[in-house]
Amino acid sequence: MKNTLLLASGFAVAYAADSRYGNIFGSSNDTALMNANQHPNISKSVPFQMGDKNFTFRVNVAEYIPDWNTTVQNPRVTTSFYELEWSGDTSLNDTIAAMESLSDNQSPRFCASIPIGLLSVSVNNDYDEKDDGDCTGALGKDCVNDLKQMGYDQGVSCSPDIPKSCDFRLETGGIGSAPLAAQGETQTSPFNFFHWSSLVYTVGNNETYIRETERLHVVIFSGKDTYPVCLRVKDDHVSKSSPATSGAAAISSRDMTWKMLMAVAIAFWLA
Ligand SMILES: *[C@@H]1O[C@H](CO)[C@@H](O)[C@H](O)[C@H]1NC(C)=O
Ligand SMILES: *[C@@H]1O[C@H](CO)[C@@H](O)[C@H](O)[C@H]1NC(C)=O
Ligand SMILES: *[C@@H]1O[C@H](CO)[C@@H](O)[C@H](O)[C@H]1NC(C)=O
Ligand SMILES: *[C@@H]1O[C@H](CO)[C@@H](O)[C@H](O)[C@H]1NC(C)=O
Ligand SMILES: *[C@@H]1O[C@H](CO)[C@@H](O)[C@H](O)[C@H]1NC(C)=O
Ligand SMILES: *[C@@H]1O[C@H](CO)[C@@H](O)[C@H](O)[C@H]1NC(C)=O
Repeated sequence: MKNTLLLASGFAVAYAADSRYGNIFGSSNDTALMNANQHPNISKSVPFQMGDKNFTFRVNVAEYIPDWNTTVQNPRVTTSFYELEWSGDTSLNDTIAAMESLSDNQSPRFCASIPIGLLSVSVNNDYDEKDDGDCTGALGKDCVNDLKQMGYDQGVSCSPDIPKSCDFRLETGGIGSAPLAAQGETQTSPFNFFHWSSLVYTVGNNETYIRETERLHVVIFSGKDTYPVCLRVKDDHVSKSSPATSGAAAISSRDMTWKMLMAVAIAFWLA
């Protein structure tokens, strides 16, 4: 199934000159990109539960030499890869169907919603290593409780809507949302469902690597119930001018690089 429907609210702009750049749902068939995911510079995972089943959310961050044409000298790209892991060799479809006690003729609806902009300095700093995946510190009790109250019916398409109580913490650049267990999904663990790639830059420029390793990553998984998961690869205290925060993007918005970093290309396909 190719080009499955993807919904995004807020600021979502395709950046045509480099289709590999930005927020991408689905896996990639690019060799350098896939290889980078196998050999990341740094990786962090957190456990979480959906229903009575244990899952792991992992973020791999890699800086590597792109294998596509570029005019940049000594080119490098930073990509962060989002992976969902579960035990056993059952497909995602069957795993979610069992978790939700669906009957044989029902296909599970399972979505991932991801904030596609950077988050504020306080949201980043309010996530603590001890939170171990829990979003309460970063997003606040009200937001997390309201998210967990959100339920969906089968057959309703994935939606980027989030509760009002989350707005000022999450809605900085819009939310991207895509179905993960579409009919026909036979994916087993680990499942690479999303990645963010930087533009090509010259070796030594560490801004996007710092951005990806230090920022708060948030994924809201939703089936019948909703499960927010948060992770920071490194949880160093960040300042307002850190490339990991929306503050830095605002400060340097005169800079073309950051304008392009704010732009978002979204595609979705199932491998
Ligand atoms: C990679 O996937 C894209 C999109 O599905 C396709 O257009 C392209 O031909 C594929 N490239 C290779 C090398 O398989
Ligand atoms: C990431 O790993 C590659 C390959 O080992 C290395 O060349 C690069 O310097 C590393 N980047 C960072 C930021 O650590
Ligand atoms: C899931 O994780 C919890 C907490 O880590 C653990 O107590 C429980 O035994 C695990 N359940 C399964 C089915 O592995
Ligand atoms: C990359 O550049 C080379 C040399 O200019 C060219 O021969 C090749 O077709 C280009 N490849 C792509 C995928 O654009
Ligand atoms: C997905 O799961 C449902 C429920 O278990 C099942 O009826 C359906 O055939 C599955 N689809 C695929 C492609 O595995
Ligand atoms: C990033 O680069 C700057 C300037 O070259 C350097 O001062 C800083 O230590 C580097 N940070 C990391 C985390 O590599």
